[in-house]
Amino acid sequence: MLSLTRRLRTQRALSTLASANSAGSASLYNGYQADLEQAAAAAQNVRDPSLPELIVPQFWTGTPAMSASRYVVDCTGADVRAEVAKGDNSQLVQEIKGTFEDLGVVHMKNTGLEEDLASMRLCAKLPMPAEMVYEGGANYRDQLVENVFDTGAPREAWLHYHHEMAYVNQSTRMLGFCAKAVCKEPGKGAMFLSDNVAVTRDILGTEFGAKLKERGICYIRCLTDREDTNNLGEVNSVGEPAGVYNHWQQSFGCDTIPEVEAAAKQKGLALQWGPGRYLRTKYYTSGFEYFPPLDTNLLYSSVADHDMWFDTWPGMSQLPRMASYADASPVDRPLYITYGDDSEMTKADLNTFVDAYDQHGFPISWETGDVVVVCNYRFAHGRPNYSLAEGEERELGVVLGEMFDRVGQKPGKWL
Ligand SMILES: [Fe+2]
Repeated sequence: MLSLTRRLRTQRALSTLASANSAGSASLYNGYQADLEQAAAAAQNVRDPSLPELIVPQFWTGTPAMSASRYVVDCTGADVRAEVAKGDNSQLVQEIKGTFEDLGVVHMKNTGLEEDLASMRLCAKLPMPAEMVYEGGANYRDQLVENVFDTGAPREAWLHYHHEMAYVNQSTRMLGFCAKAVCKEPGKGAMFLSDNVAVTRDILGTEFGAKLKERGICYIRCLTDREDTNNLGEVNSVGEPAGVYNHWQQSFGCDTIPEVEAAAKQKGLALQWGPGRYLRTKYYTSGFEYFPPLDTNLLYSSVADHDMWFDTWPGMSQLPRMASYADASPVDRPLYITYGDDSEMTKADLNTFVDAYDQHGFPISWETGDVVVVCNYRFAHGRPNYSLAEGEERELGVVLGEMFDRVGQKPGKWL
């Protein structure tokens, strides 16, 4: 039962979000549609002819799969820093933790924290038993303040729904997003979440889901050498050399070959060196992950680790698919997924994969100072690409939660 304070806050949140959840919801987020279409057209123009037809993610159906009134905690009027310092003695803190525990997502609004990332991090940590030190990640990530990282992706790229760090044997249970700067146009630069319990139920009813359950998944990830400048092109729009996704030194936080080999082994990756110290890695696992609180296997994979990830990525979108794992080189797209028996996922399979998440998506619209904490099992996250008008900025910091060793799917534990 909701406490009185909670009810009042919820009512305030409801009125704040009325426009987002009424008939206006679709129009509020129309801003991103034009950007999405523009990115799709641009991708078609530079697309290598050997690549299959482009799949454009939609992120939702136009109606939120989950009402914001359920997961928003309105902090209006509270001294958030003081409340956080009180810990469990604070009703606000209890409400934040309780909402996350019930739903696997909490959106703290009207925090008054403005650009104070260090305080937003403390808010993000409220539902987190522990933070993790970031290593073995895919994208470049710079530390913004202590343990708050840049999201590491260019705005020109749409980011398919994904579970953070599903492609290594140690993942994170939850993650927090802190809004330091947001687009002025409402809804623009929104993040989307997808209700993964519903997605899992749907996918298990498809032919694709049956294959994924039976065969598992293989992640192929290739990383360039920071010291090898032979293959580097011009600097792209995000300030990185075109054609470079991530260097193994950056991804693993290592400088030498023995160090990176040990780190990759610890993450459960098989590896192979290519010319120019190009590091090819493979990881076989389940496409699902057992989630103890619900005693069930949940979908824990997506097309974000396929070469489709680069369809709109500056400096990468023009690259072809790798011919094979053994032949992958820095002039190919560095990611690929197959089933765990190395068989290919068909175009229909990939369409099903994307559509299942889109069907259960809902937008998170940002205001400066907002903090969102998301359970990495119960939700997938992603976003459309976005453009910025003059004077507009969007900066989100990421806080990663407790790390866990992946166990994959457990027999007999299906929805
Ligand atoms: Fe992510």
